[in-house]
Amino acid sequence: MQGHLIARNGRASAILALPEMADRPREYAELLASVELFAGLDRVTLAKLAAHLEPTPVADGAVVVRQGDAADAFYLVARGVLGVYVATDNDGEDRRINTLTAGAPFGEMGLLTGEPRSATVRADGDADVLRLARSRFLDLVRREPQVALAIAATLSRRLRFANTGELATGRDASAASTAGSHAASRTTPSVASRTTRPVRMAIGLGLSGTILFGMWLTPPPAGLTMNGWRALSTLLALVPALALDALPEGVLALGLAAVWVVGGIAPPGRALSGFASSSWVLLVCVLTIGAAIASSGLLFRLALWIVAHTRGGFSGQVLALALGGVLIGPVVPNATGRVTLIAPAVVELVEALGYAHLSRQAAGLAMATLIGFGQMVGVFLTSSTTAVLVFAVLPPDARGDLNWITWAVRAAPANVVLFVILVAAIVCLYHPRGASGPGGIDRRGALALQRALLGPPSRAERFSLAVAVALLLGFVGQPLHGVDPAWVAVLALTALAMGRVVTGDTLRAVNWSFALLFGMLTSLAAIFDGAKVDRWIAGGVVATVSDLAKSPVLFVAAFTLLCFVVSLVVRWQAAAPLLTIALAPGAAAAGIDPFVVGFIATIACNTFFLPYQSTTYLALYHGTGGRLFTHRAARLAAVAYALATLAAVCAAVPVWRAMRLL
Ligand code: CMP
Repeated sequence: MQGHLIARNGRASAILALPEMADRPREYAELLASVELFAGLDRVTLAKLAAHLEPTPVADGAVVVRQGDAADAFYLVARGVLGVYVATDNDGEDRRINTLTAGAPFGEMGLLTGEPRSATVRADGDADVLRLARSRFLDLVRREPQVALAIAATLSRRLRFANTGELATGRDASAASTAGSHAASRTTPSVASRTTRPVRMAIGLGLSGTILFGMWLTPPPAGLTMNGWRALSTLLALVPALALDALPEGVLALGLAAVWVVGGIAPPGRALSGFASSSWVLLVCVLTIGAAIASSGLLFRLALWIVAHTRGGFSGQVLALALGGVLIGPVVPNATGRVTLIAPAVVELVEALGYAHLSRQAAGLAMATLIGFGQMVGVFLTSSTTAVLVFAVLPPDARGDLNWITWAVRAAPANVVLFVILVAAIVCLYHPRGASGPGGIDRRGALALQRALLGPPSRAERFSLAVAVALLLGFVGQPLHGVDPAWVAVLALTALAMGRVVTGDTLRAVNWSFALLFGMLTSLAAIFDGAKVDRWIAGGVVATVSDLAKSPVLFVAAFTLLCFVVSLVVRWQAAAPLLTIALAPGAAAAGIDPFVVGFIATIACNTFFLPYQSTTYLALYHGTGGRLFTHRAARLAAVAYALATLAAVCAAVPVWRAMRLL
């Protein structure tokens, strides 16, 4: 009897098997934990992998893979016995060459070589197999040297069996020794390695060089010093190199410092002042703490908890993430720090949901995080350090009746519109097309399995949770103890190191290329300030915009557009206070409350049309390891943010008028 797999289609089969898996998660968890192929994986990695294994029932005599077919998946025997057959010359008669039982892997050869299936695998009696899609399998082999080694061992055994005829029944897979893991990572020939792009490098560096030298040799425009002009030229020259990924950004950042110092634009102390700032220390600390907490399994457990308790599918997840970010905002005022801390958890969340890396849903959830944690920066006075800075530079009269509560009330009309439009836009723009994929189906069974694999919270998880809570309390209590968040974070990092949750490896895993760029962008504000570039930019536009102050809608729209343009050249944290300083006094004279100017500058300068514009955006991109979205996919959200900002401030005009702010 030769039948077919009952349900070849992954989704249908997963649904068929889910109720059973929900009933017996422990059994499956034990099976997975005992598979020799996965012997080298820690429980968190295994639990993540479990999200992608589709349990598939196979009827007696059904064929799972057929000799000569294209290879699209890898399989593991979960229950029952399957035979391996090859066609013989005599009338296509099949010859049985091996037997596979629970725990045995098959289907790996076609995936590794890219060639058709080398044999037919057919069930002897009812069986269950676990299916892992091709891309997931290759990803696993690329990331986990232990799995690559175990597969190499399986293949070697089969070769030995073929050479000697020695019968190798049973699991047919052998755990590989843990030694030589680096050699193993070189045994995956069909896994494409990242190629360097010499053409992009040449174009990027060529454009950058042309801009730099072109401006360097041209005299400065009126009102700007030679040094100011040259400082501006280095920023403009950086744009094409960053946009085209011509070189690693850490290298570009150091190159920038070299040009500033050697070109006489700034002394080394100012050129490197970003690294002497506590915000750089905070960034490095939260990057490390985030990575350590994530590897403890705590974030993954939390992610599973959110998944299990969020209703409404993709839309519910988008709303939960965006709202969570807005609510945590006032207690962690550094938007980049917030995003950096949550980024690893979003990767975990996406993996727990079973969404593929770089899929629409993965990009959508990343963008929801960016909106909630990084872009809703003016909801409360303490939702961002930039808002605090803007508040500090408002004319003293305007600051008089503005406090934490009045800020929230006055900002509410625009913020409500902004939030609603953004959540709706992300749900529409990134909603899964057609079939919902594994994240859209009922994943009760898979979740139960993943929780069973994780087991009870480990010591590292409990310790990480205690430190994370203490860290948040330390941030919230800043007005009481007066200690800068950076030093609170250093204390938390020290505690995690003493608890052996942070090790030398955790520090080595920090993205130092990004940390270098962050430091250098922070220096940029000091360089511009020293060379008076900021004042020159603001002065050039003040006259024009002040004229518009007579019509409120026209004024807020024009000012928002101006913020978009200025944010292309000047970082948000510098552009927002700068424009406030330049325009708030003029606006006040024309009957516009300076709060409106400061608030619009805070949210409108925070655009991220181009990645280099926003350290918050970059923190999300790098914090998620580039696994959730491409810059191209994020562009939709970037445009949505700009349009929503424009719509929100215009919609708020009547309410602001009623509040006598306009
Ligand atoms: P693949 O070629 O992708 O599809 C058929 C699978 O059968 C193959 O991968 C192996 O996983 C498995 N297979 C092939 N030859 C043997 C063998 N001699 N012993 C056990 N399994 C085999």
